[in-house]
Amino acid sequence: MPEDGGRSSQERHTSDTADALGKARVEDVVAAATLPSAQGAKHKMRARGLAVRYGEKVGIQDVDIDVHEKQVLALIGPSGCGKSTFLRALNRMNDTVPNVSVEGHVELDGEPIYGPGVDPVLVRRRVGMVFQRSNPFPKSIFENVAYGLRIAGERERPVLAERVERALRHAALWDEVKDRLEESGLALSGGQQQRLCIARALAVQPEVLLMDEPASALDPIATAKVEDLVSQLRTDLTIVIVTHNMQQAARVSQRTGFFYMGRMVEVGDTTTIFTRPKQRETEDYITGRFG
Ligand SMILES: Nc1ncnc2c1ncn2[C@@H]1O[C@H](COP(=O)(O)OP(=O)(O)O)[C@@H](O)[C@H]1O
Ligand SMILES: [Mg+2]
Repeated sequence: MPEDGGRSSQERHTSDTADALGKARVEDVVAAATLPSAQGAKHKMRARGLAVRYGEKVGIQDVDIDVHEKQVLALIGPSGCGKSTFLRALNRMNDTVPNVSVEGHVELDGEPIYGPGVDPVLVRRRVGMVFQRSNPFPKSIFENVAYGLRIAGERERPVLAERVERALRHAALWDEVKDRLEESGLALSGGQQQRLCIARALAVQPEVLLMDEPASALDPIATAKVEDLVSQLRTDLTIVIVTHNMQQAARVSQRTGFFYMGRMVEVGDTTTIFTRPKQRETEDYITGRFG
């Protein structure tokens, strides 16, 4: 069971929604930030001197960060500070944006992902992504999850069926959809659609999952399900999650990074960031003085 003193996800969320704008009250965050610390972890990904520009405009600059294996790294910070830009730099999704330039170094298992001859499609297969707005394809539930497998060349129906089931179970959606796999993915509720998108990302068995505010468009119950899922997925995967909800960061992550105006101001154990941040800007943000 979670290290939250036995409160259900539902109870935790009810207190969240009561909190206007999801702004953290310090006591709540301190109480929630009790997940185990990150001592002795191996790094799965590493960014050094990372800068992303959109034409002349700086998205992020001077970002140094390690992503520890089989942990959840939460990224927080005010809107427009570069969280999504950073996330997209971790799987070369920025390559698809016009006029973008990326400088610096990002590695996955010690290998540069921007190196010569590296295929961004293969990087994205190993480093999957889930977005804020769930975006199922106008296809059946089955085909939504099978999509990446088909792109990767899998044709055998029994193999697809087995992998689809595994991904849906992994995304905690199987029991809700197993009797309606041929129905449209768009017929599902918002929370189910988001878990469908998570299943679609999981089907190709990524090693890292990037999640950009995956619960911000969901109601409290669906949010609780996604949060519980994140905590479970960490046994197999490395996760980087952007959230504007600091209680959520405190509940699901082992490490937290604070972004501000295109820079990564501070990263560390979630407990430390929320109780004893080193930088004044971090403290001001988590105590609700701005953002
Ligand atoms: N496709 C884009 N084209 C131009 N500027 C962008 C683009 N995406 C993001 N930016 C700019 O980069 C900065 C960081 O944005 P973003 O990474 O989306 O921040 P966050 O996710 O923290 O809200 C912002 O100033 C934003 O306007
Ligand atoms: Mg964003």
